[in-house]
Amino acid sequence: MQGKVVVITGGSSGIGQVAAERLSAMGARIVLVARSKSRGEATLGRLRERAPGQTHTVHYGDVSRLADLNRLAAELRSAEPRIDVLINNAGAMFGQRQLTEDGLELTFATNHMSYFVLTNGLREQLAAAGAARVVNTSSHAHYRGKIDFDDLQSQHAYQAFPRYSFSKLCNVLFTRVLARRLAGTGITTNSLHPGFVATRFADQSGGWMARMIGAMKVFAISPEKGAETIVYLASSADVANTSGQYFYKCKPVAPSKLAQDDAAAERLWKESEKLAHFSTSP
Ligand SMILES: NC(=O)c1ccc[n+]([C@@H]2O[C@H](COP(=O)([O-])OP(=O)(O)OC[C@H]3O[C@@H](n4cnc5c(N)ncnc54)[C@H](OP(=O)(O)O)[C@@H]3O)[C@@H](O)[C@H]2O)c1
Repeated sequence: MQGKVVVITGGSSGIGQVAAERLSAMGARIVLVARSKSRGEATLGRLRERAPGQTHTVHYGDVSRLADLNRLAAELRSAEPRIDVLINNAGAMFGQRQLTEDGLELTFATNHMSYFVLTNGLREQLAAAGAARVVNTSSHAHYRGKIDFDDLQSQHAYQAFPRYSFSKLCNVLFTRVLARRLAGTGITTNSLHPGFVATRFADQSGGWMARMIGAMKVFAISPEKGAETIVYLASSADVANTSGQYFYKCKPVAPSKLAQDDAAAERLWKESEKLAHFSTSP
C-alpha cells in the first residue's frame, strides 16, 4: 500500500476508523470523508501520530445530502488526481422514517445513494490509478432485504431493520452492476459483511431497536476484527483481479438470491441515476 491513496467514508468511527489506521500503517495516504469535525480531526490526529511522514487529509460533508456528495466529489477530484482505493463505508440505521432535503428516505440516501454518487463522481480518478479498487461495506442484513421499486422511499411502510436490510441489499446490487460496468478498466469492486461489530452503529437509531442492538453488543466482535475484510479487499494481492463478489471473513460467499438478480441490479442503477440527476451512459 506504500504511496497508495485511499479515500474512505465513515473513516472517523468504528470499523472504518480501524481500516484507515491499518491501511496507513501499511503505507497508504488516507483521505477521510467525515461528517463530524471533532471525530474527523481526532482521527486525522491519530493517523498523523502513527505515520508522521504521510499527508493524510479530511474532507467534511453529510453523505446523506446530494449537494454535499457533489461538493465532496468535486473537492476530491481537484485534490486527488489519482485514487487507488475508494472505501464506501459510511452507514447507519434509523428508528423513524425521515426524509432528506432531496426528498430521499434517510437510510437509502445515506447507505446507498452516497456509494452511488461518490463512486460515479470519482471514476476518472480511479481510472487514473491504473488498478484501483472500490470496496463497499454491506451487511449480512442484506439476506433479509427486499426491494420494492414502486416504493423506493418507503412511503407506505417503514420499519428500521427491514429498511436497513434493503439498503444493504442495494450495496450488493450496486457492486454487481458496477463490476460489470468496470470490466476491462482495471478497476475492481467488491462488497463485504464485517461481522456483528461493537461500534457506535445503531446508537442513534432510537427506540427499542437501539436498546436491543446495544444489549446484543456484548456478543459482538471488536472493530479491529470487523475491519479485517475491508483491509483485505483494499490491499491483498489475492483479490487484485476479483470483482463483483461479496465477502465475509476475507472469503467470497454467495449473497442472497435477490442480490444476484441482474434485472433488479440494473433497475436500481437506473433509478439511482434519476434520483441523483445524472446519467452514466456514454
Ligand atoms: N457494526 C456492525 O455490526 C455492522 C454490521 C454490518 C455492517 N455494518 C456497516 O459497517 C459500516 C460502518 O459502520 P460501523 O459499525 O463502523 O458504525 P459507526 O461506528 O456508527 O460508524 C459509521 C460511520 O459512518 C459515518 N456516517 C453515518 N452517517 C453519515 C452521514 N450522513 N454523513 C457522513 N458520514 C456518516 C459516521 O460518521 P459520524 O462519526 O459523523 O457519525 C461514522 O464515521 C456501515 O455501513 C454499517 O452499515 C456494521
